[in-house]
Amino acid sequence: MKLVKYNWVDHRTVYLLEDRYRKVWHIKDKEIARKYELQLYGMWPKNHLMSDPVPQEFIQTYRRVWMAELETRLVKHVYIMNQIRPGYILDYGVRPEGIFLEVKLVPGVPAQDLKLTDDFRQRILEFCLDNIRSTQPYAHGDWHLSNILVNGSDMDIVDWDTVGTYSSREVHAKLTKDLQSYFGQDFVVPLTVLDSA
Ligand SMILES: Nc1ncnc2c1ncn2[C@@H]1O[C@H](COP(=O)(O)OP(=O)(O)O)[C@@H](O)[C@H]1O
Ligand SMILES: [Mg+2]
Repeated sequence: MKLVKYNWVDHRTVYLLEDRYRKVWHIKDKEIARKYELQLYGMWPKNHLMSDPVPQEFIQTYRRVWMAELETRLVKHVYIMNQIRPGYILDYGVRPEGIFLEVKLVPGVPAQDLKLTDDFRQRILEFCLDNIRSTQPYAHGDWHLSNILVNGSDMDIVDWDTVGTYSSREVHAKLTKDLQSYFGQDFVVPLTVLDSA
């Protein structure tokens, strides 16, 4: 098992296994305390200061609340993915330390590692527009070049965490933002995406 990426902000780890990628969303006591501090504040006894440690009983309660929230999101995610990419999700589950998702290996190299020529930009745009058309009524939502894998003349996309239902305007705005972050602020995504999304 190889560590691919650890996200310090969201406590999320990506591992590469022999035949799959595994993503784990960790649920840490410290993180729970931080996440729920503001919500808890209103419920705490009046003499409790924000700088005081969060009481264990709150941590335990909110760990259960948070896990239930994550599990609901995970089940919804799997339900959507099984419609638009049957067979992509290999396993998922909820453990005391967090939730995990395992997905099929997609061959290719991230588009962000390749040289950006005008042709290549155009190919990426076409791929994204096709991707948007092919997943209706859902949309991937994170057309970051690190998620687009190029395998010779084929392209595919991974990291479906943000898949969901979005309005066509939201899709256009997000695709524009994602592509402009690599292609420059002048890059224009045609409004035809509004017809297909
Ligand atoms: N199913 C997959 N097939 C091939 N490579 C993948 C797959 N899932 C993730 N990766 C690789 O791991 C990297 C990090 O995974 P990703 O799910 O995008 O994490 P993050 O949410 O932190 O961006 C991706 O940019 C990609 O290079
Ligand atoms: Mg990613």
